[in-house]
Amino acid sequence: MTRRFTITTPIFYVNGAPHIGHAYTSIACDVLARFHRLMGEDVLFVTGTDEHGQKVEQSALAQNVPPQEFADRVSAQFRQMQQDMDVSADDFVRTTEERHKKSAQALWKKVADNGFIYLGAYEGWYSTRDEAFIGEDEVTTHEDGRKTAPSGAPVEWVREPSYFFKLSEFQDRLLKLYQENPDFIGPAGPKREIESFVRQGLRDLSISRTSFRWGIEVPGDADHVMYVWFDALANYLTAAGYPDLTGEKGRYWPADVHVVGKEIIRFHCIYWPAFLMAAGLPLPSKVFAHGWWTVEGEKMSKSLGNVLDPKALSDEFGLDQLRFFLMREVPFGGDSNFSRRSMITRMNVELANDLGNLAQRTLSQIAKNLDGVLPERGAETDDDQVILKQAADLPGLVKAHIERLAISDALEEVWKLIRAANAYIDRQAPWALKKTDKARMADVLRVLVDVIRVIATLLQPYMPQSISRMLDQLGVEENERTLEALNTLLPGGRILPKPQGVFPRFVEE
Ligand code: MSP
Repeated sequence: MTRRFTITTPIFYVNGAPHIGHAYTSIACDVLARFHRLMGEDVLFVTGTDEHGQKVEQSALAQNVPPQEFADRVSAQFRQMQQDMDVSADDFVRTTEERHKKSAQALWKKVADNGFIYLGAYEGWYSTRDEAFIGEDEVTTHEDGRKTAPSGAPVEWVREPSYFFKLSEFQDRLLKLYQENPDFIGPAGPKREIESFVRQGLRDLSISRTSFRWGIEVPGDADHVMYVWFDALANYLTAAGYPDLTGEKGRYWPADVHVVGKEIIRFHCIYWPAFLMAAGLPLPSKVFAHGWWTVEGEKMSKSLGNVLDPKALSDEFGLDQLRFFLMREVPFGGDSNFSRRSMITRMNVELANDLGNLAQRTLSQIAKNLDGVLPERGAETDDDQVILKQAADLPGLVKAHIERLAISDALEEVWKLIRAANAYIDRQAPWALKKTDKARMADVLRVLVDVIRVIATLLQPYMPQSISRMLDQLGVEENERTLEALNTLLPGGRILPKPQGVFPRFVEE
């Protein structure tokens, strides 16, 4: 049976335009989704926009437009950003869609019917920017009297009737979940943070608001709208067709992995599994937290004017170059810094020199010296066998990294082979063989084509467009680009198209 794989991005708040951080989350999930498709799996890759809540209502008000109109506009920008970044999502859930309202309300009803929701009153601090209730002990009072949440966002004192979720009853079950499924939270840092937080005990969670209207109505009580995180988390179920999990999409629940930024793990590792347990629904296998990008060493912020627009970057450096840089620069899970210098270095050294030249040197010699005809595999020398073995082992190694979401380690593994292949071509010097032993030259070039084919096949998820062009030039047909297809040698005799450099050098003006 085909293994199915469900992966999600966080759904994006529509109170601001998309920036490089949002592109990063989206591209990381895209690489994983594409890789699983390459492995022949039945993939559902879900993304979307988080459109309710006080923050969105306030942003809309500030611009004097109805919240729905405001949400439509910004949601479309996120969709466009993902298109621009070549993000291959299968579904885009908007929390203002009817199907989502139905799903969130059904989840609420189920949790309520099971006895985990009660009406009370909330009194305490709320941070609208974080859309989070902040405990007294987490609030900082500044010298001028301002009070802020741990994120630095201002908090306000809220007092209103509210429905509560009995989160306090889930402490033991959550700890058991983490213990029995050591991979439920990744990587190790966030995992420790969550476990120690839950060990300290959990308070019931306020899950409705009455002081504003922009949200999903609580079933059976029109005075309340759902707390935006209850609404937002339910999007993952919406994509699977909830409340009808027996439908066409139902097989995609539970998710294999929710990829999230590290600042929202509490919502995903504590609230979300608790809501699901309360509803009697199966839990996702994993929540993985990635780090944050700074820009030239500084936190991105509107006031500093350093918010990076992914489209502008891809226009300047190239889309695949940008995708590559973001995936390569940082071990997935760590923080990183975007600097022009490192962007340019990576694209010139690793893409133009290492990979681009390897392909170009090989293909141009086939074009020039073999009339562009792909030679058959010849007799193999020891040196050939070593590099071919390294190539044959690569898919397994890369797969193992991808399975544990080590997106950057997987690239390093591919680069080991690229560097080895460059050393091989220098040792074998086919340009010299041209004069002394043309048959051997053909053998060497054929070994290189086969090695580059493995490399290119594995790099498709990272740089879909450029690598597709490289595979065209290698004479690899569309249906020969899966991992499975690597088990079959390309037939000799194919005419290869005229080679053209795929990864140009970037020259700073
Ligand atoms: N709406 C919530 C998520 C709800 S999921 C049920 C939210 N939205 S967000 O738009 O503020 O952020 C979405 C994601 O963008 C974050 O989780 C994070 O993954 C990513 N990033 C935003 N800024 C970032 C950086 N500077 N660097 C890397 N990623 C960051 O949170």
